[in-house]
Amino acid sequence: MFEHPIHPILVHFPIALLFTSIFFEFLGYLKQRESYREFGYWLLILGFLGGLAAAGTGFWSEDAAKAVGVPEEAIDRHETFAVVSMIIFGAMLVFRWWVRSRWSDRLRSIYLAFGVAGVLILGTAGYFGGDLVYRYGAGVQKTTASTVAPPESHAPTESPERY
Ligand code: HEM
Repeated sequence: MFEHPIHPILVHFPIALLFTSIFFEFLGYLKQRESYREFGYWLLILGFLGGLAAAGTGFWSEDAAKAVGVPEEAIDRHETFAVVSMIIFGAMLVFRWWVRSRWSDRLRSIYLAFGVAGVLILGTAGYFGGDLVYRYGAGVQKTTASTVAPPESHAPTESPERY
């Protein structure tokens, strides 16, 4: 149905939303501002949902990547970091619902430490995801210049023998 994988379209959402979420949580911690924390919370929900969608389509891409010869260890490494990061962010949501309004400085520090660990692991997952594409060629159609017809505007106007 689709001509290229859907996974790379979706992965930007969790990465951007979750990094920004933890940034606002950190700002809320430093400035003791509830509005920043509230913003971080909504970004966490959106980022987590984006992460679930990214992970779902990632599993969908897995067989195609193996079929073009991407090493299984490289896929597993990316997958493990991605899944662990989602477990951390899911646990942070549950933790937040469990704490409700009983926050203390200690609970906030623990929550923030998990957030920082989560984004570091998520960033590592993204890096290894890039490896799958730019190092091993997952989801990339292999073509050479001679097999691709140039668009009209780029077609040579003079005889190629001159070059
Ligand atoms: C939060 C979850 C995830 C994030 C943020 C994420 C992120 C990424 C990123 C950034 C890339 C490189 C895309 C590019 O540069 O074009 C990628 C590629 C890839 N990821 Fe993930 N990933 C996630 C989960 C998964 C899971 C669970 C799998 C399952 C094995 C997976 C399999 C793949 C595959 C096979 C590719 C190669 C491109 C493709 O064929 O779609 N990913 N991922």
